[in-house]
Amino acid sequence: MKVTDGVAPVALIHGGDLSRASQTFGVAKERWIDLSTGISPWSWLVPAVPEIVWQSLPYAGDGLESAASDYYGCDARSLLAVPGSQYAIQCIPALIPKGAVAMPVRGYAEHRLSWFKAGHDIVDYDGLAQLQQLVSERRVKHVVVINPNNPTSEMIVRQQLMEILQQLQVAGGWLLVDEAFMDGVPENSLVPECPKSGLVILRSIGKFFGLAGLRLGFVMAPPVLLQKLDSQSPPWHVSHPARWVAKQALADFSWQRIQRQRLEEVSLHWCQVLTERFSALEFSGSLLFVTGRGEAESCEAIYQELGKNAVLVRLFDEIKGQRMVRFGLPGERNMPKVAAILQQATAGQ
Ligand SMILES: Cc1ncc(COP(=O)(O)O)c(C=O)c1O
Repeated sequence: MKVTDGVAPVALIHGGDLSRASQTFGVAKERWIDLSTGISPWSWLVPAVPEIVWQSLPYAGDGLESAASDYYGCDARSLLAVPGSQYAIQCIPALIPKGAVAMPVRGYAEHRLSWFKAGHDIVDYDGLAQLQQLVSERRVKHVVVINPNNPTSEMIVRQQLMEILQQLQVAGGWLLVDEAFMDGVPENSLVPECPKSGLVILRSIGKFFGLAGLRLGFVMAPPVLLQKLDSQSPPWHVSHPARWVAKQALADFSWQRIQRQRLEEVSLHWCQVLTERFSALEFSGSLLFVTGRGEAESCEAIYQELGKNAVLVRLFDEIKGQRMVRFGLPGERNMPKVAAILQQATAGQ
């Protein structure tokens, strides 16, 4: 999807849409093995939610912000709970002075769409070197970084981001860092720098905790921006059960340790399996997904072959002759089945 050509898309396509996949491939919905998202196949196990939590409206003071402050490593006054980081992605561009914004040429496309809709000019960058050039030549006022990036899994280190922020601050610009996939490598997070003028960080409870259906995320930013965002939001827009669940998941450090270790092991193994199976693609990985890049026809063929075998992966648009296929992690229940399908799908290669 290109917004730079001035044509606004109607709606973006995302992973996990099994109804759509069923229509495309003629596979019954319940047969799919869904590897089309970057959501952990192991979720934090939600206990029974007390009746009072269902019955009563949510108010601050229930301990969520303080649990988030401990988990993320910033002052509770520098963060705001929102109904998914998607909510912040849609709202924040309209709260920031208009100007050219540097946008990863490949990345979660909702950013591009939201900044475009809010009237900013989008300037593409492909990798850190291009971004640094745009910033040092003052060709952009704001910057969006997805760290690690989805789907490319590229990571920009803290020091380099702080240098970019310092340059943007001079002209009153903003650096928005989407850390939706950062939980596996928290040492790279910029959250401990918050609050800093011009810095916004987004975090998600959906990916690492495997709780995408909860619709909860956090924004870390200077209080003025948080107040603007909060004051335009409906009251109680994060549900009471979502707050109750997230407060406990964020405080469950032993589960988080196990989850990190499990994701590290499985993602590494998954990357090795895919590299062996699909020699036409070049793979790189994050803790929650593995992405293969290659010629458009190879990517399309893999997507089609797996789809026919009821394994849904995510195929990304062609950019400069190259496409990408993203593979979410199969949980242990699906791994043997997926391995057999991969073997079958690559038998003729
Ligand atoms: C990079 C990135 N950021 C943010 C989101 C939105 O996530 P959520 O609204 O569930 O927090 C997504 C969803 O896929 C994503 O890929």
